[in-house]
Amino acid sequence: MRFDVISLFPDLFQILTWQGVVGRALERGSAELHLWNPRDYTQDPHRTVDDRPYGGGPGMVMKVEPLQAAIEDAKAVALHSKVAYLTPQGRPLVQDTIAEIAAAPGWILIAGRYEGIDERLVERYVDEEWSIGDYVVTGGELPAMVVMDAVMRLLPGTLGHQDSARTDSYVDGLLDFPHYTRPETVSGARVPPVLLSGDHQAIARWRLQQALGRTWRRRPDLLERRGLSSEEQALLDEFMRTHRDTG
Ligand SMILES: C[S@@+](CC[C@H](N)C(=O)[O-])C[C@H]1O[C@@H](n2cnc3c(N)ncnc32)[C@H](O)[C@@H]1O
Repeated sequence: MRFDVISLFPDLFQILTWQGVVGRALERGSAELHLWNPRDYTQDPHRTVDDRPYGGGPGMVMKVEPLQAAIEDAKAVALHSKVAYLTPQGRPLVQDTIAEIAAAPGWILIAGRYEGIDERLVERYVDEEWSIGDYVVTGGELPAMVVMDAVMRLLPGTLGHQDSARTDSYVDGLLDFPHYTRPETVSGARVPPVLLSGDHQAIARWRLQQALGRTWRRRPDLLERRGLSSEEQALLDEFMRTHRDTG
């Protein structure tokens, strides 16, 4: 999988190489990261990368020519990659979208700055617009890193344990079950006894029930979208009965 990122702050992406799972994916070559800085394509002595908006008003817009040259150069080498612009106006990213993104051979990601990029560049080059949520951050670098991190952990061989991503929240339309580790008692709170039982079937049943119960409590919208098998519905009914009084 190949990522080409167009950013005025390419150094920020160093952080991806520090971290275990993603750093390993880049080191082993299951993912490649190439950085393109529009500033390297400027022609003026000040290396200007922003410009005033037509129509006036506050804020600047990314300067067209250097950004366009960077996009053209990235497209000339990343021949099989589509172009995505990270923008708060884009399609909100969810786990299913991340899985679709991970199935492509590569992506050219445009990280905006200032008020964003000229609309004509969006119309000409951008295949997809993605948002990391209904809020605005300063630049597209963090959103681009969020996407790359979420995608890279799905690539074969990236996670330490083959099954680790399978039970993660959203993968099967549910939130993850709660996790516990040693010691058995923390400040008087004990591990649920079933997890110490060694009974794998009972543990799997308990975990599924917890996942269903958590999703029902915290994200009922997910349950509505997903639907439940009769076995899952029975587990959830039991969870609801048991937890009716505990809120
Ligand atoms: C300050 S923002 C510009 C926001 C723009 N004026 C708007 O209101 O739609 C600068 C850049 O940060 C990135 N950005 C900000 N919030 C984002 C979000 N929620 N998802 C993805 N990218 C975002 C985009 O690349 C954007 O061009």
